[in-house]
Amino acid sequence: MDMSNLKLKQSHLMGLVFGGREGLKEDGSNIDLRALHMRILVEKGLTLSHWDKFTSHFKATLEEIDSIPSETKTVALEWMQSTRQDFKPAEAAEIAAFKAKGM
Ligand code: HEM
Repeated sequence: MDMSNLKLKQSHLMGLVFGGREGLKEDGSNIDLRALHMRILVEKGLTLSHWDKFTSHFKATLEEIDSIPSETKTVALEWMQSTRQDFKPAEAAEIAAFKAKGM
């Protein structure tokens, strides 16, 4: 993956974690993290253990930054935790639907 693309994706992620418009679609509903990650869940072997590692690094990093108010940290970590269900293994029906889309 090229670095500028990675940076863009990381900034989208931070927008989601810390709230704001980036966390919402045009119509105001939440973005679908499961749909966004379906390709790597189905084809690249993404599992909950990757999610666990990712979120524990995120938590450790957040704890190191003293200038972030603790309330902001709490909200960010709660939001992060709420995404766990989106990373559970893809079910047969989801895999079939993903393959049918031909992506
Ligand atoms: C709280 C957890 C996570 C959030 C909020 C999140 C957020 C996002 C968002 C918003 C995108 C779309 C970015 C864009 O196209 O601009 C994305 C894509 C992606 N994420 Fe995550 N992500 C999370 C966990 C993970 C984990 C655990 C991994 C792998 C270790 C991962 C790997 C990727 C990859 C590879 C893409 C690109 C997918 C593709 O192009 O098919 N993400 N993520």
